[in-house]
Amino acid sequence: MLLINALLLVPAIFLIEPIERLFIFIAILLASDIFIMYLLGRKRNKELDEIKAIINNIRKNKYQTEEEINLDPHLLSLQKAIKKMFIKTKNDIDYLQRLQKMRSQFLANVSHELRTPIFAIQGFIETLLSGAINDKKVNMHFLKKANHHTINLSNLLNDLIDISMIESGEMRMNYGYFDVSALLEGIVNEQKNIANEKGIKLIFHSFNDEMQLFGDKDKIKQVIVNLLQNAIKYSEKGSVEVSVEEAERTASIKVKDTGIGIQEKYLDRIFERFYRVDKARSKSVGGTGLGLAIVKHIVEAHGSKILVKSTVDKGSEFSFQLKK
Ligand SMILES: Nc1ncnc2c1ncn2[C@@H]1O[C@H](COP(=O)(O)OP(=O)(O)O)[C@@H](O)[C@H]1O
Ligand SMILES: [Mg+2]
Repeated sequence: MLLINALLLVPAIFLIEPIERLFIFIAILLASDIFIMYLLGRKRNKELDEIKAIINNIRKNKYQTEEEINLDPHLLSLQKAIKKMFIKTKNDIDYLQRLQKMRSQFLANVSHELRTPIFAIQGFIETLLSGAINDKKVNMHFLKKANHHTINLSNLLNDLIDISMIESGEMRMNYGYFDVSALLEGIVNEQKNIANEKGIKLIFHSFNDEMQLFGDKDKIKQVIVNLLQNAIKYSEKGSVEVSVEEAERTASIKVKDTGIGIQEKYLDRIFERFYRVDKARSKSVGGTGLGLAIVKHIVEAHGSKILVKSTVDKGSEFSFQLKK
């Protein structure tokens, strides 16, 4: 087409009067402009179709990796932007899918955990109703068992309420300075009977009575109660010690036991929801498997970390730091 324009240009210049020559010259220029615009338009359309196809493919989840997204080399910056968008969308989708899977798994766990005590209570009550209530040899035993399971159920519900508050971001923290010595002393006194019943010595190492630590006092109490109850639950003998180690700007609260200990390979897993090293044992002592997950969340909300050291058959030590 350009060639035709050029051929037309020759007679225009040599054969025709100047004014006609000018008209032809303008007409040729216009024609070639329109033609170039047409060509450019066609190319743009092709590129737009390509981009449209890529967007459709992303929408239909056809790409596995960003390497599969390719545009014309002169659209490199656009290609980069589309790849970035693809990676972000893919990560968001992966995250949502993982979350969804975790939710379903959590719900399945919750249903399972609820079923056990409810079925047990139902069984004991039915047995009592069908005559065992008059049998003095077993009636108290069945009632005690049913009671044990209602306690488990109530522990589970309390922990579930905490977990759901954590999940929905409703667990409000109430930070301030508190008297750590008084707090620990109070908790140790509250738990002393349970420890004594098992023949375990509960020791509180008093220290700087004046020390103030920064945190949410009630939540920190919940953490220490959880750690202390675990220490007592998972010990058969010996002692449980609560202590505070002071550093320049922080203090470390420690709960140490001489109990059954935890194998190294389980040390990370015990902080997962519903994870128990020995499920039967945890259940028999009223465990929910949620305690350490709640502990971890609260300690991390304080900008700290829960640490654990343990040796099987020797004992465990859980600790975390708070700011002074
Ligand atoms: N002091 C400890 N000594 C030995 N094992 C422990 C101790 N604390 C926790 N564990 C293990 O970690 C698991 C998870 O703890 P936790 O979340 O508090 O749940 P649970 O309700 O079972 O106590 C327990 O089931 C137990 O196997
Ligand atoms: Mg526990």
